Amino acid sequence: MQSISRRGFLKKSMLTTAGVSAATVMLQTPSSKILGANDRLRVGVIGIRGKGGQHMSEFHKMENVDVVALCDIDEAVLGERVHSLEEDGVKVKAYTDFRDLLDNDDIDAVSIATPNHSHSLIAIMAILAGKDVYVEKPVSQVVWEGRRLVDIAKKYNKIVQSGTQNRSDVGLRGALEYLREGHLGKILWAHGLWYKERQPIGNANGPQPIPETIDYNLWTGPAPLVPLMRERLHYDWHWNWDTGNGDMGNLGVHQIDDCRFLMDQKGLPRRLVSFGERFVWDDDGETPNVQFSVFDTDPAPIFIEIRNLPAKAGVRAMDHLRGVRMGNIIQCEDGFFAGGRGGGWFYDNDRKKIKQFPGDGGGEHHANFIQAVRERDPQILHAPIEEGHYSSAFCHMANTSYRLGKYMDIEQIKAQYTHDQALETIDRIRDHLLANNVDLSKTPIKSGPWLEIDTKKEMFKGEMSFEANMFIRRNDREPFVVPAKT
Ligand SMILES: NC(=O)c1ccc[n+]([C@@H]2O[C@H](COP(=O)([O-])OP(=O)(O)OC[C@H]3O[C@@H](n4cnc5c(N)ncnc54)[C@H](O)[C@@H]3O)[C@@H](O)[C@H]2O)c1
Repeated sequence: MQSISRRGFLKKSMLTTAGVSAATVMLQTPSSKILGANDRLRVGVIGIRGKGGQHMSEFHKMENVDVVALCDIDEAVLGERVHSLEEDGVKVKAYTDFRDLLDNDDIDAVSIATPNHSHSLIAIMAILAGKDVYVEKPVSQVVWEGRRLVDIAKKYNKIVQSGTQNRSDVGLRGALEYLREGHLGKILWAHGLWYKERQPIGNANGPQPIPETIDYNLWTGPAPLVPLMRERLHYDWHWNWDTGNGDMGNLGVHQIDDCRFLMDQKGLPRRLVSFGERFVWDDDGETPNVQFSVFDTDPAPIFIEIRNLPAKAGVRAMDHLRGVRMGNIIQCEDGFFAGGRGGGWFYDNDRKKIKQFPGDGGGEHHANFIQAVRERDPQILHAPIEEGHYSSAFCHMANTSYRLGKYMDIEQIKAQYTHDQALETIDRIRDHLLANNVDLSKTPIKSGPWLEIDTKKEMFKGEMSFEANMFIRRNDREPFVVPAKT
């Protein structure tokens, strides 16, 4: 395993943290000129177990793109991926510490598919080391660091794509044009839903041993270094607040992003509210497995509904809404769109099919990133980092409302809402919980307050803003600190 000196990078990051000028950092930049289609681009992939393995394959199959480096804090995962490329005749440099990979000036761009809590930090450090970046969704763990990432990308003229690939789906891109052309009149509301069955993650009953192949300090990064209190380190970090954002920030972020994309929505919402709970399961996860959030925004409100429980107790099948299990409904005056990744249909209000936009799952998203890197043109990115930041911030702010919630019964919760679509959804959620044998007379539900947002400052304002703003920024653990100044 290759291990190169970290001196250069550490020196660089200390300088930049202390406020060194853009020009100084740009001296380190390996790729700042327009590249032709035949110029080879050298890519490194950081975090390669699940999604990162797919990043590796996407880049590997592209013309004139070389995967030259892989990084993972788990040597078992790293060894397996290096071996699979070797079998394909490709020799890569292997790193366990992303700072060592970023020190390698032979790398033009990196893609990041580590857990959520290290996305912004690694992306920012990559930009400061002169790389272009593809970073998975959500692009941040808290709102503040997402804004830092956007600002730093702009300041250093780097190409940064958010891993919200549905924006590259040809079906959704076609649907967007159809909506823009106004065939169905004004948009009235958007409802994103993600009904995906999951299982409880178990009860560890105390600190768990970390496998010898894993550097737990690096894995933890900016989060508090605490003993592992669940059975599995990998993947299940989604369900603990220090490292994940629940299914709201996992799959809900795609739904929010799709709704925002299809409605041409810009910036943060004016206000939002969220309720939910981790129903039925008794396990080590902290995040809700049923959650509903409402965003008051232009041109129309967005409703996001997440469910991990089946249609009823004892089955695996999931419910659907107008035929959608994982996707979006965009309701207009004269009909609606129902679909998501992979495209969808427009219907009239009698549910008669009008027009189909078949999709491709956003398979060209990595290629779109590479094209923008070659042309050094962030304008052609399908998912520019600022859009990724907003969609991620929607999730974090909804989770903030939820986390500040009080326990209420369904009727008390309904009293907080006025929109018919919200009231109808709450009734469906009540029926869904009853079908899963949740005794609502004994199970209060955590329901957050409406929170107002200062959309320019990207902070909460008004009632409960003091408490809510505690969630905007996190105390990063040294030395894994997102720089406040560059
Ligand atoms: N866009 C999509 O549709 C999509 C789909 C799946 C996952 N994702 C995103 O991809 C990310 C990864 O998800 P996953 O399911 O592969 O998670 P995972 O936990 O299975 O894999 C993460 C990998 O990152 C490694 N890692 C952790 N910290 C690291 C660090 N500091 N440096 C290098 N490697 C590190 C881990 O060892 C692990 O191998 C998540 O943020 C997830 O939201 C996106």
